[in-house]
Amino acid sequence: MIKIVILASGSGSNAERITQYFSSHKNVEISYILSNKNDAFVLERAKKHGIKTKVFSNKEMKEQIEFLNLLKTEADFIVLAGFLLKVPEHIIKAFPNKIINIHPALLPNYGGKGMYGMHVHRAVKKNNETETGITIHYVNENYDEGAIIFQAKTALTTEDTPETIANKIHELEQQHFPNVIEQVINK
Ligand code: GRF
Repeated sequence: MIKIVILASGSGSNAERITQYFSSHKNVEISYILSNKNDAFVLERAKKHGIKTKVFSNKEMKEQIEFLNLLKTEADFIVLAGFLLKVPEHIIKAFPNKIINIHPALLPNYGGKGMYGMHVHRAVKKNNETETGITIHYVNENYDEGAIIFQAKTALTTEDTPETIANKIHELEQQHFPNVIEQVINK
């Protein structure tokens, strides 16, 4: 059994899609969905699918051996799906090339601190980009700088707004993220 722990801070549409995708895979289990926000909608989605949840603080993630032990027990792979905290170095070291993140832009563009959610799409719009996309990458010690696993692009027109860009990105994420995770874990 390959066990995946998902870390998410927000709505959790990606976490839910991943959960649904792997529910028919007998050798893959989403063992936990962890969140740093106790009111994150992702927790509702997890409960709906019968996935165990836990809420933790940044301090607990950074300092508690229990948090690392939970990951060691429950995760062969860790998937960040809209997770807004920086993963501490000791966790990255414990899971080399086993932590996967999705970023809603074509890295290395529009990455780094502060570049998340609508901030990304507004910046893309402001620069009149003719395309944007998603990047799925391994996580290393720096925000959005780990080795790229997969990118997919979508064209933009002058009519696009940050909101329509967000929708296009969302579609790409739903379409590709679970498959790419499957490829990585079966490597
Ligand atoms: C996604 O756009 C993802 O790329 C980014 O955060 C967003 C999370 O959305 N890292 P959701 O919580 O999965 O709905």
